[in-house]
Parts: sequence; C-alpha cells; structure tokens
Amino acid sequence: MSVEVLVGTQWGDEGKGKLIDVLTRDIDMVVRFQGGNNAGHTVEIGKEKYVLHLVPSGIFRPGIACVIGNGLVVDPVSLMEEMQELAGRGLDISVIELSSKSQLIFQYHKEMDTIRETQCPGDKKIGTTKRGIGPAYADKAGRIGIRGSELTNPPGLEKLFREQAAAYNKLFREAGVRELNIDAEWLRVKAAAEYLAPFVKDTVLSVNRAIKAGKRILCEGAQGMWLDIDHGTYPYVTSSNTTAGGACTGAGIAPRHIGTVWGVMKAYTTRVGEGPFPTELFDQTGEELRQAGGEFGATTGRPRRCGWFDAVASAYSCMVNGVSKLAVTKLDVLDELSEIKICTTYEIDGKTTADMTVSAHVLAKAKPVYETMPGWECSTAEVRKWDDLPENARKYLKRMAELVDSEIAIISVGPKREQTFSV
Ligand code: GDP
Ligand code: IMO
Ligand code: MG
Repeated sequence: MSVEVLVGTQWGDEGKGKLIDVLTRDIDMVVRFQGGNNAGHTVEIGKEKYVLHLVPSGIFRPGIACVIGNGLVVDPVSLMEEMQELAGRGLDISVIELSSKSQLIFQYHKEMDTIRETQCPGDKKIGTTKRGIGPAYADKAGRIGIRGSELTNPPGLEKLFREQAAAYNKLFREAGVRELNIDAEWLRVKAAAEYLAPFVKDTVLSVNRAIKAGKRILCEGAQGMWLDIDHGTYPYVTSSNTTAGGACTGAGIAPRHIGTVWGVMKAYTTRVGEGPFPTELFDQTGEELRQAGGEFGATTGRPRRCGWFDAVASAYSCMVNGVSKLAVTKLDVLDELSEIKICTTYEIDGKTTADMTVSAHVLAKAKPVYETMPGWECSTAEVRKWDDLPENARKYLKRMAELVDSEIAIISVGPKREQTFSV
C-alpha cells in the first residue's frame, strides 16, 4: 500500500509541518485533504523558517508533487500570495496542483465568519481563525459553493461570484453591517483566478495515477483530532474531517490504498480558541510551557492554551485514527521540569473514568486525575538516538505509548529537520 496519512492527534499544532518535511525524504507526492488557510504548518530548514497555510509541506524537497485536494476550502487570493512568496524565496511552485473540486473562499465568507464570532453570545464563540472556513464549508454542504474548476472559466466565475456576493450583501444589510464592494472584490478574485488557473487539475486523477505507478504518497492532515467536525469537541471544532478517514474523501483515495497512519502527538497539550481542555494549566507551569514551546499561533499569533499530556483524549484519538506509528514532538520543551504529569483518567461528577466523553458540556466538567513522573532536567535537543535519551525521558515516552496503546516510531527534540530520530 503506497499511501500514508499523517494527522494531528490533539487540538492541532502538534508539529505536522515539520514531520511532513522530514518524512518527504522518501515520498513522491504530498496531498493536503481538508481544511484551508486556518492551518499554519511551520518548517525550519537551516536558518530559514516557513509557515505554510495551503501549500503542502512537501514543497521543500525538489520534484515532489504537492496537491491541494478536493476536500479543501481555498481562498484564491491567499493561495496566490502564499505561492508568490514561496516562489520569491526560490522554491519551485510548478509542482503544485489545485483540485478542480476544491471549494473557494471569498471575502464574504470571511466577513460572515467574523460577524458570527463577534455578534454571538460569549459562550457560543468558537474562537475561529476568521479565515471564512465555517461559512465556506456551509456553502459546500448547502450546494451553493463555487468550486476550483471555475478559476479556469472567468465569465462563469464572475457570474457565480456576483450572485453569491449580492446574496451575502443582503444578509449583511439586514444585520446592519458594512456591505462588500463587489466590483472591487471581483478584481481581486479575477487576478487570483488568472494566476491560479494553470494549476487547476482533476487531482483525483493525478493521485490515483501516482498510486497505480507505485509512487509513494503522503497525505498531510491539518488541525487535529479534537477539532474534527464529527469526532471533536463539537461545537468547538473546525468544519472538516481532520481524522485519517478524511484522507479518503478529501483526496479521492480508496480506503484499500491506505497503509500507515502517522499520529503526531505533542509531549504535552495545547489548544487555540475556545472549548473544553481538561488538562489546561493556568499557573506558572502553563506559562513556562508556552514560553519554552513558543506556543503562539502560526496563523493568528494568538497565545496557545497549554497543559499536561492527556492520555484519555489521546487514546481515543489513536483509536479513531487507527494510528499505526506515533511521532512524539516537542519532548525538549519538558527538559527543564522537575516533575511532569500525565492525565490518566477523568473525574466527572464524582465518578472516575478512563473513557473520553464526547459532549463538550460534560467534558467541561471533567477534572483530570494525574500520575506524576520525575523530569530529566537536562537538554535533549542534541539527542539523536533512543539510547542517548535520559532514562526518565525514556520512561515518560514509554508510559505515553502504553496509555494510548500505540508505538512510537519518531521522536522530535527541536524545530529543525535534524532534531528528529527514529525509534
Ligand atoms: P502544525 O500546525 O502541526 O504544523 O504545527 P505548528 O507549526 O503550528 O506548531 C508547531 C511549532 O513547534 C512550530 O513552531 C515548529 O517549528 C515547532 N516544533 C516542531 N517540532 C518541534 C520540537 O520537537 N521541538 C520544538 N521545540 N519545537 C518544535
Ligand atoms: P493546524 O493545521 C490549531 C481552531 C481555531 C478554532 C477552531 C475553529 O496549524 O494544526 P476555524 O477557523 O477552523 O473555523 O476555527 O479551530 N483551529 C486550529 N487550531 N491549529 C490549527 O491548524 C487550527 N485550525 C483551526 O483556533 O478553535
Ligand atoms: Mg499550526
């Protein structure tokens, strides 16, 4: 089976971008299959740092096909800007393919996202990235969305865009907010369409032809398990299937082709935006994790909420994703701590459970029950093999793996490519 899938097992920002870059050493094609430019995937190579939002993280290895699949919602103006920036930094963007079946995000989706977030009562706020993700997926499901294929048909695109923009303007008028200048917006869209048209393809054909030719394909997940529209902490989620199954529908790959599922797992937990987070720390340790881990959003710059590793949530995540190999990241961020906690069960209404609970309102009441392990209090940033890890770090990793019932295959001890080793 030539297709591997890589997903985030927590609330996103696990280090997927870095891992994709590392794994593409042995890969021919990378395919994003869901989400949009709500994603921020960081890759550090030498002195250069890149943050990718729509372009797959395979772009740094020459010759690898980089596919933006049908499951995505794509802001054409943002994609054009991202591609221009990468080209300006010397990267070959001719390897990018954009699915004709992807859905397009326009300014009106972003406005709608912002209006919902600012006008709803506080407890209904999701803390979205305001990139128009939810409204664009709503239009897709409502069958009024506009697809990537229209980028190659400017008169058709203009007609559809103007109709939709006028309908949204009516809603904005009724809500008493500023209407869009449709003519000005159209000029921005038109320029992006002209730029992107040569990249638009039926990527389902490209991907399946590559499978048939025995090429090695890696599907790049965005966000993480607990932001999945079905399996996450609904309604505090994103609007796509972030779990491994999403790769089949979002890239047009039949389940029988999927082999390895990589689960990327931070050695602790972070979350951006609203919603329950049982192991969140509000004390000095939380702040230390944020500073040591540089936990500020790659897309919005928001400080990420930080907490201990949650084995209850992560075990459920590995189960739903069918994780066959774990990549544990940011182990180095725990280097200074004298003790480290792992949440092994929750206490909810006086009862202890090791099962994840799926309702956000119940999860909001969950009190984490911790096991405390001694820290290693020395740097792991230069470690390149399992045997060279401090004993307490090995014990911590083994306990993580045991609790989530999965095998660790890769450990990451820093943001750079070389700060990675196989187990
Ligand atoms: P993604 O969305 O899953 O790709 O993750 P982000 O790029 O949003 O956030 C991960 C951050 O951690 C980035 O700044 C990475 O450069 C950085 N990073 C990745 N792996 C490691 C690691 O093992 N150690 C440290 N200290 N930083 C890492
Ligand atoms: P990567 O791929 C972390 C969060 C937002 C918000 C919720 C819904 O970098 O891991 P949306 O804009 O998608 O409607 O917001 O999802 N969110 C992410 N959190 N990493 C991401 O992507 C995220 N993409 C969306 O903060 O809570
Ligand atoms: Mg990110």
